[in-house]
Amino acid sequence: VIDVHDWQGKTGDSWAAEWRRTDRSFAVLTTELLRRALAAPFRQALDIGGGAGELALELAQRQPQAEVVGVDLSESLSRIARERAAELPQGQGSLSFAAADATSWQPAAGFAPDLLLSRHGVMFFADPVAAFTHFHDLAAVGARLVFSCFRLPAESPFFTDVNALLPQSAIAGDADTAAYVPGPFAFAEEERITVILQSAGWTNISMEAFDFSMVSGAGPDPVEDAIGYYSTIGPAARAMAGLDSSQRAELRARLRVYAQAKLQEGQVSGRAGAWIVQAIKA
Ligand SMILES: C[S@@+](CC[C@H](N)C(=O)[O-])C[C@H]1O[C@@H](n2cnc3c(N)ncnc32)[C@H](O)[C@@H]1O
Repeated sequence: VIDVHDWQGKTGDSWAAEWRRTDRSFAVLTTELLRRALAAPFRQALDIGGGAGELALELAQRQPQAEVVGVDLSESLSRIARERAAELPQGQGSLSFAAADATSWQPAAGFAPDLLLSRHGVMFFADPVAAFTHFHDLAAVGARLVFSCFRLPAESPFFTDVNALLPQSAIAGDADTAAYVPGPFAFAEEERITVILQSAGWTNISMEAFDFSMVSGAGPDPVEDAIGYYSTIGPAARAMAGLDSSQRAELRARLRVYAQAKLQEGQVSGRAGAWIVQAIKA
């Protein structure tokens, strides 16, 4: 289980330290999400579990007259998002970031988003139906919901390959990868997503399977870069916290061999299988 406490604590801090590499790893998916989000105009947008803010920043820049709010549990990630916003060439406009639980967050009066967007930020809710009911309540009539999430682990070799390199005691088992507990794979099952969204009042639900190449290493030393990334984000990072120094060195050596094998045209990457989900508030 990866939940509220993880994101408010160490996991959120790791993502904050690694925002450049996480944005890079999701780049192909980001393009697709933004293409769908920007397919129709919007006045007010909410980025749910927006982390270090890339989607909200992009929306604000591409539709500068819109009001854009990012909500994320992690103080560290929200601070990074605000710093990035402050660096925008045209200033921050009406872009803001709240460090809060999106499932109970109440916007300022007058904010009723007609676009609700999330890149992998909706799989960690203890009560997903209550969460999506809350988003439905906040949304304007006609609002569009667009989000991505992982399909089953077996469809994401970038995850299963690294998981298989871990010592037996640290391999993420069913409890961590099950398609119903809060965590990266909580929204893996098509039917479950449909039931959750329908129960929460959303209509016109569509789901597309989208495979993308998740980049974990690039730059002058892509292999070392990938090892640094694996060591702070994902299954190897979680496992390392429980290993002694010699086990950790052994794991790093295995990750190096794996990253070298995955190196192609200056990048270390692995395939990830996502859903791109869309729905409407009728
Ligand atoms: C996998 S990360 C994705 C972050 C960001 N969307 C991105 O693509 O870089 C999941 C994010 O969801 C946030 N999150 C999880 N549960 C949340 C909740 N109940 N309310 C707000 N944010 C939440 C976490 O803090 C984390 O930043």
